[in-house]
Amino acid sequence: MENDVIIEVRELTKKYGKLTVLDNLSFNIFRGEIFGLLGPNGAGKSTFISTLATICKPTSGDMAVSGFSIKNQPERIRRSIGLVPQDIALYPALTGMDNLDFWASIYGLRGSLKKERIYEALSVVRLEDRAADRVENYSGGMKRRLNIAVALVHHPEILVMDEPTVGVDIQSRRFILDAVKALKNEGKTVIFTSHYIDEMEALCDRLALLDRGIIKSIGTVNELLSLHGSENMEEIMLKLFEG
Ligand SMILES: Nc1ncnc2c1ncn2[C@@H]1O[C@H](COP(=O)(O)OP(=O)(O)OP(=O)(O)O)[C@@H](O)[C@H]1O
Ligand SMILES: [Mg+2]
Repeated sequence: MENDVIIEVRELTKKYGKLTVLDNLSFNIFRGEIFGLLGPNGAGKSTFISTLATICKPTSGDMAVSGFSIKNQPERIRRSIGLVPQDIALYPALTGMDNLDFWASIYGLRGSLKKERIYEALSVVRLEDRAADRVENYSGGMKRRLNIAVALVHHPEILVMDEPTVGVDIQSRRFILDAVKALKNEGKTVIFTSHYIDEMEALCDRLALLDRGIIKSIGTVNELLSLHGSENMEEIMLKLFEG
């Protein structure tokens, strides 16, 4: 259903000292959509994502994920979220398989179900052949793909991906984008950030244009283009973002 709200952001503010990084944000994310966050360096995208993933606490306001508050029920939310952080978070001395095993265990998976989920995650990112190699011997793109597999292993209903396509070749990029679309087709909700506008336009059902902690505009690509009387997103971003 189009307007079944899965994430409700209410007057969310995050400050670091005097710096307001998220400024009184209120908006909804719908179940089953790919929601894109687009904004210049330092806009607050990763901070929003860390707050959603309950890694970072808001200064004020709240966010509800499937009705659970990030403030009061973070442990309930963690189970429903798979996070692909901007900075790769893997153990380089462990194999791909053992990295997945570690995270699957953290999520409480055991025995044959754990094994099944690990193989499934490896196959989604097509790393079966390299599963027994140490991560330190992976290429950058393989590490990115394993980072994604880690986020999938506990079958979360929400995938949060912070610049998952940085520094990967065109095949891996295509592959990651196809995997995201397949996850959407399975009914997952995806929150995605990238500085590649083409990729965001092609992938996202809706985009939020974030600048200095404020959402300057939100909607489908067509809505944004017509709202701003523009023919391309880049023009809108250059106009809206102060940098
Ligand atoms: N732990 C922290 N302490 C102080 N300031 C922080 C901290 N984390 C982030 N910031 C500041 O918050 C602002 C937003 O950072 P954030 O990482 O959310 O931006 P971003 O939109 O993800 O940028 P990028 O496109 O470069 O990844 C920046 O000014 C950053 O310096
Ligand atoms: Mg970031």
